[in-house]
Amino acid sequence: MKIAAIFSLAMALGASAAAGTLKYTDDKTGISFSGYSDDKGLRVGMALPETPGKDLIMQIVGPAKEGAGWAGFDFSSSMSGKMLLVAWPNGKEVMLSPRIATGYVTPSVYTATDVKLSPIPKGTFVNETHYSATFLCGGCINKDTFSATDADGVFAYAYSTTAVTTPTDPSSALSYHAAGFSAYGMSLADAKSADYAKWAAMADTTAAPPSAPAPSVPGTNLTAPIRTSNVTYDYIVAGGGPAGIITASKLAESGASVLLVERGHASTASTGGKAVMAWNSSVTQFDVPSMGYYLASSTLDATQYCADTASQAGCLLGGSGMINALMFVKPQDADFDDKWPAGWKSADVKAASDAFFEKNPGTDMSSADGKRYDQGAYDVLSTFFQSNGFSSVEPLKEPNKKVDVFAHPPWLIQDHMRGGPIRSYLPAAQAKKNFNMRLNTNVVRAVRQASWTSGIEVQNEDGSREYINVTPKTGKVILAAGALSTPRILFYSGIGPEEQIKKVPSTVTMTNASRIDLPVGKGVQDHVILTVSMKTKQSLKSLNSTAFTKPSQTDIDLFAQGSGVLTQAGQRLNFWTSVKSPSDGQTRFIQGTCNSPADDEVKLKVYLTHGVTSQADLGLDATGKITELKGNPWLDTKGDVDALQTFFDRLIKMTAKPNSTLSIKMKDGSVAPTNLTGAALLADIKSTQATGSHWVRSARMGLDDGRKANGSAVVDTNTKVYGTDNLFVVDASMHADLPTGNTQAIVMVAAEHAADKILALGGGATNGTTAQPCRKRKLRRGAGHRHRRHARRAHGGVDLSSHMKA
Ligand SMILES: Cc1cc2nc3c(=O)[nH]c(=O)nc-3n(C[C@H](O)[C@H](O)[C@H](O)COP(=O)(O)OP(=O)(O)OC[C@H]3O[C@@H](n4cnc5c(N)ncnc54)[C@H](O)[C@@H]3O)c2cc1C
Ligand SMILES: *[C@@H]1O[C@H](CO)[C@@H](O)[C@H](O)[C@H]1NC(C)=O
Ligand SMILES: *[C@@H]1O[C@H](CO)[C@@H](O)[C@H](O)[C@H]1NC(C)=O
Ligand SMILES: *[C@@H]1O[C@H](CO)[C@@H](O)[C@H](O)[C@H]1NC(C)=O
Ligand SMILES: *[C@@H]1O[C@H](CO)[C@@H](O)[C@H](O)[C@H]1NC(C)=O
Ligand SMILES: *[C@@H]1O[C@H](CO)[C@@H](O)[C@H](O)[C@H]1NC(C)=O
Ligand SMILES: *[C@@H]1O[C@H](CO)[C@@H](O)[C@H](O)[C@H]1NC(C)=O
Ligand SMILES: *[C@@H]1O[C@H](CO)[C@@H](O)[C@H](O)[C@H]1NC(C)=O
Ligand SMILES: *[C@@H]1O[C@H](CO)[C@@H](O)[C@H](O)[C@H]1NC(C)=O
Ligand SMILES: *[C@@H]1O[C@H](CO)[C@@H](O)[C@H](O)[C@H]1NC(C)=O
Ligand SMILES: *[C@@H]1O[C@H](CO)[C@@H](O)[C@H](O)[C@H]1NC(C)=O
Repeated sequence: MKIAAIFSLAMALGASAAAGTLKYTDDKTGISFSGYSDDKGLRVGMALPETPGKDLIMQIVGPAKEGAGWAGFDFSSSMSGKMLLVAWPNGKEVMLSPRIATGYVTPSVYTATDVKLSPIPKGTFVNETHYSATFLCGGCINKDTFSATDADGVFAYAYSTTAVTTPTDPSSALSYHAAGFSAYGMSLADAKSADYAKWAAMADTTAAPPSAPAPSVPGTNLTAPIRTSNVTYDYIVAGGGPAGIITASKLAESGASVLLVERGHASTASTGGKAVMAWNSSVTQFDVPSMGYYLASSTLDATQYCADTASQAGCLLGGSGMINALMFVKPQDADFDDKWPAGWKSADVKAASDAFFEKNPGTDMSSADGKRYDQGAYDVLSTFFQSNGFSSVEPLKEPNKKVDVFAHPPWLIQDHMRGGPIRSYLPAAQAKKNFNMRLNTNVVRAVRQASWTSGIEVQNEDGSREYINVTPKTGKVILAAGALSTPRILFYSGIGPEEQIKKVPSTVTMTNASRIDLPVGKGVQDHVILTVSMKTKQSLKSLNSTAFTKPSQTDIDLFAQGSGVLTQAGQRLNFWTSVKSPSDGQTRFIQGTCNSPADDEVKLKVYLTHGVTSQADLGLDATGKITELKGNPWLDTKGDVDALQTFFDRLIKMTAKPNSTLSIKMKDGSVAPTNLTGAALLADIKSTQATGSHWVRSARMGLDDGRKANGSAVVDTNTKVYGTDNLFVVDASMHADLPTGNTQAIVMVAAEHAADKILALGGGATNGTTAQPCRKRKLRRGAGHRHRRHARRAHGGVDLSSHMKA
């Protein structure tokens, strides 16, 4: 994800014309390299023996703005599945880290085969302007790079002048800022030299490679004492993202005692977030809608992203709802009706949906003065789509119109700030004595005895561990850690395929209850995004990024009144349509989000959405700590590829009309050839392919109990994990299908409905009127008494927490 964005941003900046492939002799080491350099100080080179074996010599030189940055050499041109070597300065030291990028996700540390990086000291240094890494790359000719017998190679580099997140840590996340990227082809013969052995001998093979400290994952600190909390709760909700906040708030409305546990810190200013803007210290970067497109390149919050998920996700209060792009697409009926089970069709969720949108309406007009700002892209594109038979709609009012329509983007903005349950649900819940929230508290696992879950194990910020229990016999544990993290909690709780449970780190205390064999993580789906660039025929003025990252005083003053361009998110026009794939005859939906990245240019981010058939599996990596994908969730089926190409064929026809206001711009900047096909366009822009960040289905709901042969579902229609009494999943993991639009709206509608289903099971309500089987009510009389007492006290304003003893 991060790397993909680096690539597309670099494309937008335009690769430097003075750059190119070259053969050069490094003056510090005397080694002759074949490689690439640009005019901004980036240089990469490779040297090979005349008959390559497993090793090669590599040089990576990057420009160090204020002593910071990173540069990476990629053994493929597309960033998928190949090894990537990354270098960065750490003070006067140069760090080197081999990575693997499985598709367009955060590249993780490379461990697949033995690779040993030994520095050549003369060529490894940091000076005032650059850092240089020259090293023997032992074992680097392998299945993840190229073959010793290859004649040619296509390689790439990417670099940044922003420091990596943790320069001292070889496994550090890379920063997002793009200074440059290019792919290039070279003849491997050019890199070969009879002097190779002499050069390789300069390498210091005894130098200890910087060893990656294990990422600190909760539950792995055995030295931490473990205690049991003296407070128990009717409901514990693990994860304070959109689904978790809604569920916890709704459960608290019933009067039951609720604990919401979030691993990250506060986000918005109203919750105590610290990442305030330089130009207005009463708002954080999460509050300001226009920052939605610039959070990844901001350095105000170093830990906003999860460091242990297969793709980007928000790890702070509000979850990915705080770091997303604010698109707010009300689900169309088909999103539920096609694949969700009975009880979850659009008619079934209508009441929950109405309740949700009433509290959380969203808007396509976020500026208090009733004006829309920076409308150049809208003007050009609305004319273009209209003249091609698309009609203008209001997606928040007419969600079912999703074919040949365009719109002003619907946004989750409330009171001119980023909206969501953190504003529309959480404050009311926090006003209740029976609602409790803990931040900076990481849920390790659900503590299970056979089918019963007694509570959760958490790791606190100081490393200490704790058990927190639910009310005996009636309490419930609800997972809402997001589609990329809930599966890990399930694996750590002994629930999932055997191959995953085996990878759980031995330091995690596993349950002694037997494994529940459910297909957790199987068949996850995501939208895929390809970016089409277009040139406008009339003049179009674009705002450059500084208008958002370093706003003018006029815009700052407007924002203070709830108006102006800073109250808008990044998109300027949306469109939707559908295509029937010629190969399988199935319909797939297309969404586009558009803006203008440069003068006389528009950018269409084209998403393939509802109906896609590609899927992958989510599991644990070799360390057992990080979730990773196996398989390719994007454009992996012929049906998906053909559908996208069919849409591109149509787009090309639209731009080919003689009076078209737009023309397609190819990756190299040229105008589309007249014989351009959808397939050729897809091939041309393939390197812009990126995740939609719209992960669903990692613990899917269904009637077919996944413990049985051929069963695929992890949770039942009450969102309860099969084979358990009281463990639930309410986040995007449990979704049965991939929707038409960006996922947050449907995630919240589904969470609202899930909370109703869970409440209907009874067990937590204080007023004793909740529907529940009589048999059960008898069992829980004691608990009921206790809660009724709490409810009365709550009314009297007494702090109840001290009464909720186990
Ligand atoms: C970069 C990006 C851009 C996006 N853009 C859009 C958009 O414009 N519009 C849109 O509709 N959708 C967008 N999405 C998707 C949308 O944000 C998600 O679908 C939505 O946030 C999912 O909600 P959730 O509650 O299922 O999970 P999440 O939002 O992932 O929330 C999970 C929460 O659980 C916490 N957590 C995780 N593990 C633990 C643990 N072990 N213990 C305790 N807490 C834990 C996390 O910190 C987080 O707060 C985007 C997503 C990303 C990543
Ligand atoms: C720093 O090293 C780079 C790479 O060798 C070199 O191009 C540059 O001139 C050096 N800068 C200074 C100030 O010596
Ligand atoms: C482990 O726990 C101990 C005791 O709480 C704490 O001092 C230490 O910092 C923790 N270590 C890690 C890596 O969290
Ligand atoms: C181009 O011409 C067609 C056919 O006359 C018309 O329908 C369409 O609106 C025109 N488009 C523009 C952008 O003028
Ligand atoms: C499993 O662990 C629980 C407590 O963690 C304990 O009460 C129970 O006796 C254990 N069961 C077995 C079979 O060891
Ligand atoms: C962006 O606009 C600002 C203000 O007009 C200008 O100073 C800056 O040079 C521009 N940046 C780029 C990259 O064009
Ligand atoms: C900052 O933004 C808030 C919210 O819009 C506004 O009330 C306040 O006046 C602004 N402050 C400044 C200094 O602009
Ligand atoms: C398109 O035309 C160019 C020459 O203009 C030619 O090189 C290319 O092969 C053609 N492509 C197709 C798919 O016909
Ligand atoms: C499971 O699927 C296989 C292959 O589709 C089929 O042969 C088998 O009968 C199915 N088993 C059950 C129990 O449905
Ligand atoms: C319980 O009481 C609360 C507060 O009085 C009320 O809003 C809620 O509807 C009641 N729940 C049930 C199930 O009666
Ligand atoms: C529960 O434990 C906390 C410390 O962990 C303590 O401050 C609090 O007084 C205890 N409450 C009761 C009711 O024992």
